[in-house]
Amino acid sequence: MTNQQTNILSVDNSVENLKEHPLIQCAATQLASNEVVAFPTETVYGLGGNALSDQAIERIFKAKGRPSDNPLIVHISNKKQLQHYVKHIPNSARKLIDAFWPGPLTIVLEHNKKLSTRVTAQLSTVAVRMPDHPVALALIEAANVPLAAPSANTSGKPSPTTADHVRKDLAGKISTIIDGGTTGVGVESTVVDCTSETVMLLRPGGISKEALEEIVGVVEVDPALVAADHTPKSPGMKYTHYAPDAPLQLIDGSTDFFRKIVEDAINNGKKVGVLVTEENKGLTRANQEVILGKRSDLSTVAQTLYSSLRSFDKNVVDIIFTEVFPETGLGSAIMNRLKKAAGGTIIKQD
Ligand code: TXA
Ligand code: MG
Repeated sequence: MTNQQTNILSVDNSVENLKEHPLIQCAATQLASNEVVAFPTETVYGLGGNALSDQAIERIFKAKGRPSDNPLIVHISNKKQLQHYVKHIPNSARKLIDAFWPGPLTIVLEHNKKLSTRVTAQLSTVAVRMPDHPVALALIEAANVPLAAPSANTSGKPSPTTADHVRKDLAGKISTIIDGGTTGVGVESTVVDCTSETVMLLRPGGISKEALEEIVGVVEVDPALVAADHTPKSPGMKYTHYAPDAPLQLIDGSTDFFRKIVEDAINNGKKVGVLVTEENKGLTRANQEVILGKRSDLSTVAQTLYSSLRSFDKNVVDIIFTEVFPETGLGSAIMNRLKKAAGGTIIKQD
């Protein structure tokens, strides 16, 4: 792969009229030449390219090392743009858009073939969202095209929540990184399919299933999210993801059980890392302890999840143990990511 110079542009999110800001204009010029630009959203950093250009999309897949059958999310800067790229906007989608856009909700609809076929990986549907971040919105406006953007990490690694995470994964492989600080939500958007009568949840994320149901009534869940023997409707959900450098295991049991698992591993000569909440810090003699926010406020756990998983990468631990969380509200997204990072391994107390 060519060793491209990567420019890092630090943008103050609170500046007025960001769209005209010289650094945003500079990034937009790069996008106009079909280069790719990493930018902050309210969830995680995205790696954006012109969604109408095969060349730009090709560059995104190449920089990430992403399998080409995994379609990208298209990001727009106002609700009206959606109608230009989809065949039809059903009522369920309209209601969800009114309730949650801009915000961490991605909606899958039938597309009208105007986008690059590389974006949709030959599917008849496209995933679209309007992010709730001033830099993301200004960049899309300045580019004057929808931006296809997966998370700006190397495929398989935890998603980036800071510009520095992006730099570590992608420096030398992309033209530009816009640094807009740490992202707020910390886990990716919720993905829902609105092409059928009943809305279907394909990926849990920043908007909970419960919050969706308040707007559109019962939401079905892609069976692949609960049973491993189904093929997921969201192609990206079948890949291993978010993996730290050492193997991760989920411990489902009391604090005594957690302590015993850690002690056993240490007694077996292992160097142990633990991912625990504030409430459970100092519980074990682990070689490295990383604090995962507060159990009493799961939004803090989501915010720090990926940087916590990444913080083990630099250190030499043989194995990492983590707490588990209730699978409701934001807990569903957190557990979905932890299970993927652990390759499904959960140690349960009898
Ligand atoms: O918060 C987010 O959604 C972030 C930020 C950057 O916007 N983006 C993100 O993109 O997480 P990515 O590529 O890492 O995940 C996109 C997910 C994948 O699981 C992909 O398979 C699914 O959306 N997806 C994309 N198009 C789809 C489609 N037409 N049908 C079903 N799933 C689709
Ligand atoms: Mg991703």
